[in-house]
Amino acid sequence: MAVSPERRPTLAVVGATGSVGGVLLQILSQHADIWGEIRLVASARSAGRKLTVRGEETEVVALTESVFDGVDVAMFDVPDEVAAQWAPIAASKGAVVVDNSAAFRLDDDVPLVVPEVNPHAARVRPRGIVANPNCTTLSMIVAIGALHAEFGLRELVVSSYQAVSGAGRAGVETLRAQLSLVAGTELGTSPGDLRRAVGDATGPFPEPVALNVVPWAGSLREDGWSSEEMKVRDESRKILGLPELPVAVTCVRVPVVTTHSLTVHARFQSEVTVGRAREILATAPGVVLFDDPAAGEFPTPADVVGTDPTWVGRVRRSLDDPSGLELFVCGDNLRKGAALNTAQIAELIAAEFTA
Ligand SMILES: NC(=O)c1ccc[n+]([C@@H]2O[C@H](COP(=O)([O-])OP(=O)(O)OC[C@H]3O[C@@H](n4cnc5c(N)ncnc54)[C@H](OP(=O)(O)O)[C@@H]3O)[C@@H](O)[C@H]2O)c1
Repeated sequence: MAVSPERRPTLAVVGATGSVGGVLLQILSQHADIWGEIRLVASARSAGRKLTVRGEETEVVALTESVFDGVDVAMFDVPDEVAAQWAPIAASKGAVVVDNSAAFRLDDDVPLVVPEVNPHAARVRPRGIVANPNCTTLSMIVAIGALHAEFGLRELVVSSYQAVSGAGRAGVETLRAQLSLVAGTELGTSPGDLRRAVGDATGPFPEPVALNVVPWAGSLREDGWSSEEMKVRDESRKILGLPELPVAVTCVRVPVVTTHSLTVHARFQSEVTVGRAREILATAPGVVLFDDPAAGEFPTPADVVGTDPTWVGRVRRSLDDPSGLELFVCGDNLRKGAALNTAQIAELIAAEFTA
């Protein structure tokens, strides 16, 4: 739908009260103000709450069909089942939906978009829905996409070190509660002591996450793979347009509040040099190369949290393969990993309205 340049598009943020929604409201307040009305939507539990966006207190309304009346773009940051039910309703009422859940990402008629890698895909949306990739894929794919454009990607082997906010507010509340339980104790020094102290209070995680690492994220899929691992594989293939790309992933949860880290072993079609890889990473939009181990410089979540780019360090050529690179990558899972990418897609779409 084309609108006149003087009419700014109306935006709905569905899930405005959640972890991703909260960061989205910050980003909407920081980016150029291209929107007309911004409607904040959540469950009936939150109706009447007031949240601040663009410096204005705005009342949250409960999700109903009528909240989409006159909405041009609807960002969805809600659980999968809520998005699966409501995104088609919003689209049927004329809104272009940008959905952050896993409900539509792998559907052939729904583009999966990272503006730095495949912005063109956002223009073809037969169902009126554009999907935002999952946070683990997004935390590395801008850097990988830049290297792929030059060298041609042949294989990915990835391990993640995922922050608890990837599991929403419940994940953060669980880590904080466990940290206060273990602070100042000797826990973590004998088998099972941590598990006994934490008891059933493991929240969305299968094991205690404070003072621990948990080699699991998501739900069980075939042959012992986790849903999160399958997402990284399937979504990377779709975004890069490489449907047969070999991808092996192990997802691990660590006691970090926000910012996912990944080690990446990437094999390319041709030989690579660290010098050229560094040039590419240093100049790619959305990527920061921070890589001087002699000076103790490499990205860590403690420094990356709250920032927009994908940070890359520890760039090395694989010892046994001249076409391979080893990287350590960090990205804020709530910013580029979720809200920022959603906002960028929505801004691409908003530009169509005024073009
Ligand atoms: N956290 C991440 O790093 C991350 C990254 C990428 C994608 N995602 C995806 O983004 C989505 C939101 O994640 P999150 O981490 O922000 O979750 P969250 O913190 O648990 O927030 C969930 C949001 O959904 C709303 N909601 C829940 N049930 C609803 C219903 N029946 N009707 C209307 N609204 C409802 C909640 O509203 P109330 O406050 O009213 O309950 C809240 O605003 C999920 O699909 C998640 O997989 C998350």
